[in-house]
Amino acid sequence: MALHVSSHPLVKHKLGLLRRRDTPPWLFRALIRELTLLLLYEATADLPVAPKRVETPLEVAEVSALSQTVGFAPILRAGLGMVEAALELLPTADVRHLGIYRDHATLLPVEYYSRLHGVPTADVYLVLDPMLATGQSAVAAVDMLERWGASQVKFVGLIGAPEGTRALRDAHPELDIYLAAEDRQLNDAGYILPGLGDAGDRQFRT
Ligand code: URA
Repeated sequence: MALHVSSHPLVKHKLGLLRRRDTPPWLFRALIRELTLLLLYEATADLPVAPKRVETPLEVAEVSALSQTVGFAPILRAGLGMVEAALELLPTADVRHLGIYRDHATLLPVEYYSRLHGVPTADVYLVLDPMLATGQSAVAAVDMLERWGASQVKFVGLIGAPEGTRALRDAHPELDIYLAAEDRQLNDAGYILPGLGDAGDRQFRT
């Protein structure tokens, strides 16, 4: 439905640290975690709640409880750093890992793993991938979830390229996309400029 690029000062500050070439892997991972928490705060702002009564030590209180269940679909391997943070916020969420890599010659997505057995168990699935570059992996991930029967899907990433957000919106106009920033363009190798390099390599020191 919409592209949401965060305007939160903490997101901007932490993204600036994440981009630096001299940010070591341990700090890179910590920043991915913190940025994911902040972006998920925004991406879950429209989750419905239902009224509920609980007993405090003193009396009965009217509270709100989430009335939808959430699942996460991290795209391997760069999405792994985001799913740990996501599970801190929603520890009962189910996690559906999706193995999709980008063929370096064609830049096209290749699906090699999916944990989509049975029927969807969550009401809404959040696809997690830090980099929305060509958008092909994200499109493939949303396609896989929809073919499986997921009724609502959102995309949460850190940096997008205009090419990627366009491809994802063209393929899935109904999708909400949450990002920390939209950068200038892709280079010929499919990397986002100015970007941050390879998000998987920088997390896992490869
Ligand atoms: N994947 C990355 O890790 N970085 C990019 O810039 C593009 C795709």
